[in-house]
Amino acid sequence: MPELPDPIRYTLRFPAPHTHYVEVEGTFPTGAKPWIELAMAVWTPGSYLVREYARHVEGLTAHSPDGTELSLDKSRKNRWRIHTHDARTIVVTYRVYCREMSVRTNWVEDGFALLNGAPTFLTLAEDVARPYDVQLLLPEAWQISITSLPAAPGGTAHHYRAADFDTLVDSPMLAGNPAVYTFAVDGKAPPPAFVKYQTEGLLAGVKYDPKHVPEGTLLYLSNCVFCHGVPGVDKGGNVRNLGYVPTEMIANLKDIVFKGPFRDQGMPDFTGKLKEEDIPKLQAFIQGTADAIRPK
Ligand code: HEC
Repeated sequence: MPELPDPIRYTLRFPAPHTHYVEVEGTFPTGAKPWIELAMAVWTPGSYLVREYARHVEGLTAHSPDGTELSLDKSRKNRWRIHTHDARTIVVTYRVYCREMSVRTNWVEDGFALLNGAPTFLTLAEDVARPYDVQLLLPEAWQISITSLPAAPGGTAHHYRAADFDTLVDSPMLAGNPAVYTFAVDGKAPPPAFVKYQTEGLLAGVKYDPKHVPEGTLLYLSNCVFCHGVPGVDKGGNVRNLGYVPTEMIANLKDIVFKGPFRDQGMPDFTGKLKEEDIPKLQAFIQGTADAIRPK
């Protein structure tokens, strides 16, 4: 059996989330080469704009496992060349500024983090499909993480594995205080104090099955959150928060998600990406969240 290429391992830390930074530590196999080149995506599947994520990467340094600092050059706008000095693996650290809740970008604040692969992870500039391990080390007050990535084998909590870079880039991660997300699931927990939601104009009256909320949460996270924000929890980026749209918009969600009328305004067509049976799950998450935060 051919040996699997060594994984790239990341550890993400949030030492001061109110400053909107995630600290990233990546361990890269060098394949015994004298130097390796790390790259950051400049584009994302599904997004038509070329985005220069590299401009949010700050303070990049590299060292060998014994702590020796390694020299590096920025070979291009989104590439770093690191001299390995014969180390078998090297460790790279950097911080990413995360305050852009829009398509395929990142958001970090006191109560939660919403991370997308492309603006977060540097990868080896090479043609090898490797697995990626991601360990989230969360602030004490944060207890959960949600992503469609499977748990890493033998992993601890908040430890995930992506089979390859494309999967990593296509799997946003949400982490934070459980109250934010579980209050929508069972409707009992009060929203946490940092949630500055507005109760006026909250969505009402869309029929849904509460059993669909957990799956709807994942679907929403993977497909909608970067444009529309977390319903009721924040106002999102430059498009409307779906917790505050007219009832018929969510009741007729299918007609908006598949070949919908907002395509010329930038709303993607999810034909082929989502299935019809995903619609009631998304409706459950959107209406369920609005119901959960409405004062009783
Ligand atoms: C790339 C960004 C983007 C993504 C991703 C996205 N949308 Fe949209 N959506 C838009 C834009 C832009 C509009 C039209 C302007 C507006 O409503 O603010 C819109 C409009 C809508 C509307 C109508 C809201 C109204 O009353 O104006 C609904 C409902 C909607 N989207 C649902 C979804 C759902 C569900 C998903 C995930 C499956 C999703 N969208 C993913 C950009 C996006």
